[in-house]
Amino acid sequence: MKKLKSSGPGPKYRIAIMSILLAVSCFLIYYFHSVHGIGAVFSHFFYIPIILSSLWWKRKGLMVALFLAALLIFGHVFLREDVTIVNDFFRSILLIVIACVVAFLSEQIAKTEKKLKKSEGMYKNTIKFLPLHLGVTNPEGKYIIWNDYSEDMLGYSSDEAIKDLTLDKLVKEPEKTADIFSRTLKQGIYDEYVDLIHKNGRIIPTQLKIVPLYQSNNILSGFIIEAEDLTLIENSRKRIKKLSKELLESQEDERRKISAEIHDEAGVTITSLQLNCHMIKELISLKRYDEIEPFIDSIIDTSKNLSSELRKVCYNLAPANIKQDGIIYAISDYLEKIKTYAKLEIDSKISREIENSDIVIKTTLYRTIQEAVTNVIRHSNAKNLTLSITKRKNDINLKITDNGIGFDMSTTKKDKYGLKGIRSRVENLGGSFKIGSKPTSGTTIEVQLPYI
Ligand SMILES: Nc1ncnc2c1ncn2[C@@H]1O[C@H](COP(=O)(O)OP(=O)(O)OP(=O)(O)O)[C@@H](O)[C@H]1O
Ligand SMILES: [Mg+2]
Repeated sequence: MKKLKSSGPGPKYRIAIMSILLAVSCFLIYYFHSVHGIGAVFSHFFYIPIILSSLWWKRKGLMVALFLAALLIFGHVFLREDVTIVNDFFRSILLIVIACVVAFLSEQIAKTEKKLKKSEGMYKNTIKFLPLHLGVTNPEGKYIIWNDYSEDMLGYSSDEAIKDLTLDKLVKEPEKTADIFSRTLKQGIYDEYVDLIHKNGRIIPTQLKIVPLYQSNNILSGFIIEAEDLTLIENSRKRIKKLSKELLESQEDERRKISAEIHDEAGVTITSLQLNCHMIKELISLKRYDEIEPFIDSIIDTSKNLSSELRKVCYNLAPANIKQDGIIYAISDYLEKIKTYAKLEIDSKISREIENSDIVIKTTLYRTIQEAVTNVIRHSNAKNLTLSITKRKNDINLKITDNGIGFDMSTTKKDKYGLKGIRSRVENLGGSFKIGSKPTSGTTIEVQLPYI
């Protein structure tokens, strides 16, 4: 849109022009009265400076009308005493009235211009900062308006777009453009998901909206095109899809783990209990009662072991009450329990400040420790484990090191989800996960989580 500007000469020129016009008016008074010797003055000329001054200076311009009215009256009084000045009063009043009307109209015009300028600014800013591709085309689909954001979104500058860009060059499947326009005309609006192409070839998923523009006589004058960039939404959708898949996989893995633990810990023991019971039954049937006692003792020992094994399994499965007991207590308690059944020296150092972090961060810390320590017990044959949690400026650093047999990370099986699950959990919170291990030289896991 063209910028509205106050037209006409600048302030200095206005003063110069007005001075000349006033000088001419004074000369006319003098000329008609003194040189020509007649009572009538060519006062119509006065309208020129009066109208101009009211236009330029609004109410202040009235001074010029007052000056000329006074000039008219006093010109007669001083230069031609014989002339009656009644007519001059009427003419002077008329001059002032005209100046008032022009000043009033000029003020109204200035106010309207100001309002227009304000709404023009708002409209321009809205279009400029609107995070959408917004354009107007002629009836053939050639762009005639292209907003600033479109350059970022589609790569074409306004000049390039207005020179020779049509919608079919932006749509990923150009053969569909004719159909898009014909549906716009038929339905009055087109509103669908369409892939556009950036100048550099990148595909941009968008919600494309098109409405036709008609002149008052119902002739098509063009189209308004609006496209919202859905890249971010599309990426989030993909991320959610990936996360749901990972969630399903980890749930499946969790089930597998539970069944394996129950099988490993309880299955064998129950089989041995069953064997002992069969032996006792047989001994009873043979009436060899004095041989029964060792089997009963074995049953008592085995069931004691079974109950402690099951307690261990349940403890690992049950979530620690981090909210109620605090994360530091939950970790320390877990490590104490581990020490009682695993032959492992644990050296831990935990920063008190982590207690103030978010529950999601604390739960992730706890689950990471649980997975890493379980791995050390299961796979490493380590004698020592060191664990440190340090609060740094903006993040929390967790480091777990063992002095076990280590492993070759390139040969890790694909169907293992323990470390994979921890990695995706940490990365989804904006953290980082690193693991360092080589056969025979122990393993170190380092996790960084934001301090929120
Ligand atoms: N501290 C460690 N010392 C030695 N090997 C390890 C250690 N941690 C992990 N590993 C190796 O990395 C593999 C992958 O570990 P991960 O935790 O992902 O799976 P997992 O423990 O075998 O099974 P699960 O899915 O039940 O956790 C393990 O099978 C093991 O070979
Ligand atoms: Mg594991």
